Amino acid sequence: MKKVLVATEKPFAPAAVEQIKMVVDEAGYEFELLEKYAEHADLVNAVKTADAVIVRSDKVTEDVIAGTDTMKIVVRAGAGYDNVDLAAATAKGVVVMNTPGQNSNAVAELALGMMISLARNGYNGKAGTELRGKNIGIHAFGNVGRYVSQIAKGFGMNVYAFDPFVSAETIKEAGVTPVDTADELYSTCQYISLHIPANDKTKKSIGKEILGKMPKGAVLVNTARKEVINEEELLEFMAERSDFGYISDIAPDCAAEIAEKFDGRYFFTPKKMGAQTAEANINAGVAAAEQIRDFFEKGDTSCQVNK
Ligand code: 3PG
Repeated sequence: MKKVLVATEKPFAPAAVEQIKMVVDEAGYEFELLEKYAEHADLVNAVKTADAVIVRSDKVTEDVIAGTDTMKIVVRAGAGYDNVDLAAATAKGVVVMNTPGQNSNAVAELALGMMISLARNGYNGKAGTELRGKNIGIHAFGNVGRYVSQIAKGFGMNVYAFDPFVSAETIKEAGVTPVDTADELYSTCQYISLHIPANDKTKKSIGKEILGKMPKGAVLVNTARKEVINEEELLEFMAERSDFGYISDIAPDCAAEIAEKFDGRYFFTPKKMGAQTAEANINAGVAAAEQIRDFFEKGDTSCQVNK
């Protein structure tokens, strides 16, 4: 009997676990759950006898992959798969998938929620600002970026987008104004919402130079990955530009320094919360279980990211 392991340091909502288990049971597989584990070694051990593994931001590193001869597939229930060592998986013939789009609305809602919180000074009673009429730039027009653009339009914002991998036509069809370069996006928009993945090209790519192009009252909203920010330059920039605010879903490494020096100009979630809704957990978790079933039963590899 094949065993499907759900290994999530940050647990799914109970309703999602229930529905994942239903898919696994109906497929005739064994279900195992490892939640809130304390040590990386717990993940290494649990994976040893699993045929398929569902994870979130859990670190599926080389040692995890090397430690199992049974695992055929790992599905990251979510969008970004920078937590999975793709090279190690590929070398061992392990299929890696994500579940694109399944948790995107939740992340987009948090982005707008955090923007309002900062614009209203954390609801401290002082007069804040409104989002209506402001320009927002979507940096990478994937699933989350699209949802952010829809919600931002509902708030009466002017929405722009830049994505080197999405045509201007596609962006226009979504009712968003495309721009040709990242520089143009940053110089046009008071708000920038980041949706770029973390990879060798993008890590530390957002620094002083590009942020310096933003107009007065600039706010950077990061629901992507903290690694895409050049934090040394972010600190320098925040010191130079007293009008600039930084919002991030998961605190940067320099959070304490920002908190000490730039009161009222930041908002950070204590733990990555973007995808942490019952709906997103159910959508992504169930999709992951179904993808595993379809991989074993039909050889379906459509969501594979290490082809
Ligand atoms: C994603 O890439 O899907 C999001 O960052 C969500 O990550 P999480 O599943 O760890 O909340």
